[in-house]
Amino acid sequence: MSAAAAPATTIGGLPVTVEPTTSPLTDAARAERMRDPGFGRVFSEHMLTIRWTREGGWQEARLTPYGPLALDPATSALHYGQSVFEGFKVYRGADGSVAAFRPEANAERFRASARRLCLPELPVEVFTEAVDLLVGHDHAWVPSAPGQTLYVRPLLFASEPELVVRPSEECLFVLTAFVAADYFPRGLTPVTVWVADHFVRAAPGGTGAAKCAANYAAGLAAQAEAAEQGCDQVVFLDAVERRWVEELGGMNLLFVYGGDVPRLVTPALTGTLLPGITRDSLLTLARDLGMEVEEGRVSVEDWEADARSGALTEVFACGTAAVLTPVGRVRREGAEWVVGDGDTGPVTAALRERLLAVQTGAVPDEHGWRRVVAPLG
Ligand code: PLP
Ligand code: COI
Repeated sequence: MSAAAAPATTIGGLPVTVEPTTSPLTDAARAERMRDPGFGRVFSEHMLTIRWTREGGWQEARLTPYGPLALDPATSALHYGQSVFEGFKVYRGADGSVAAFRPEANAERFRASARRLCLPELPVEVFTEAVDLLVGHDHAWVPSAPGQTLYVRPLLFASEPELVVRPSEECLFVLTAFVAADYFPRGLTPVTVWVADHFVRAAPGGTGAAKCAANYAAGLAAQAEAAEQGCDQVVFLDAVERRWVEELGGMNLLFVYGGDVPRLVTPALTGTLLPGITRDSLLTLARDLGMEVEEGRVSVEDWEADARSGALTEVFACGTAAVLTPVGRVRREGAEWVVGDGDTGPVTAALRERLLAVQTGAVPDEHGWRRVVAPLG
């Protein structure tokens, strides 16, 4: 005689109640919604939530239809920004297989971000098996259209309705997924970037290495300034000397010194920039392709001088949303320069092609980066 129905499954050892939608969309209705998805507008049909309390730990994991959360106006994260998130993509391969790209790395970074923001650290297996469960149920939402993917967005925020400034006693983990088209709709068309001389994204000892909500809010004014200057993205410099290139608002930067053996230079992970998983993957693939790779320092003065002399042949930005996007032109107050011939260079094109081939399973997965997800439900 059982008192209550046992949860049907577990994720990382945690019981989950699975309550899928009783009115799934037809294939035709789903296809219509996926036609012009933009970024973060068209969500799949389910979501997964897990509550955490300081007393009881992780609990009440549920897979439910996608829908709004009911939040008390005093919810701490809305006021004080105690909130972290992640982002990675799920690709449909040419053979129809569905695989998440390096979700274990995102799970580790999610834990590191949580630690910095005094949020609880979700065990890696709970994170990755939650992804298997959600993507398993929403398998049909992984697009096959070129340039489209299913982008998974884990979020963890302070849900306690109390406004004392201290780490929350209650948190909510929310896992959702949306259909994403290319972040830059112009594909491999190079972007123009604006160097922020007056705004700073992150300072030593701050939260620059964490993927926390506040970093993105803090970057918006600089991004607006870049747009006013006719630029697509903003480049942040270090907070102390205001000369060392760090990253863009949502992407890392790589500099290519071309030649028989191209040399790639990217800002080292000093604690003030996000350790991008695309960055890490590209450094590995560049080494595989016989290129030289260096994590060091690039000053904005050298960026201009080396671009003008022709030593610096290509620059590109990389991140989950953008994949790999060439930077053709740079502007800052009183200066403007072109990188290479302002067009997409051969190293940028080769690395982008290689990365996409690995992500879609078109070449062997030598580094064990694809987590294949089976359909469920
Ligand atoms: N830097 C910032 C500030 C970002 O928001 C992102 C995007 O996630 C990146 C870099 C690139 O990181 P990843 O390649 O893991 O997406
Ligand atoms: C990503 O590249 O996935 C990001 O998270 C950057 C931005 C869209 C928030």
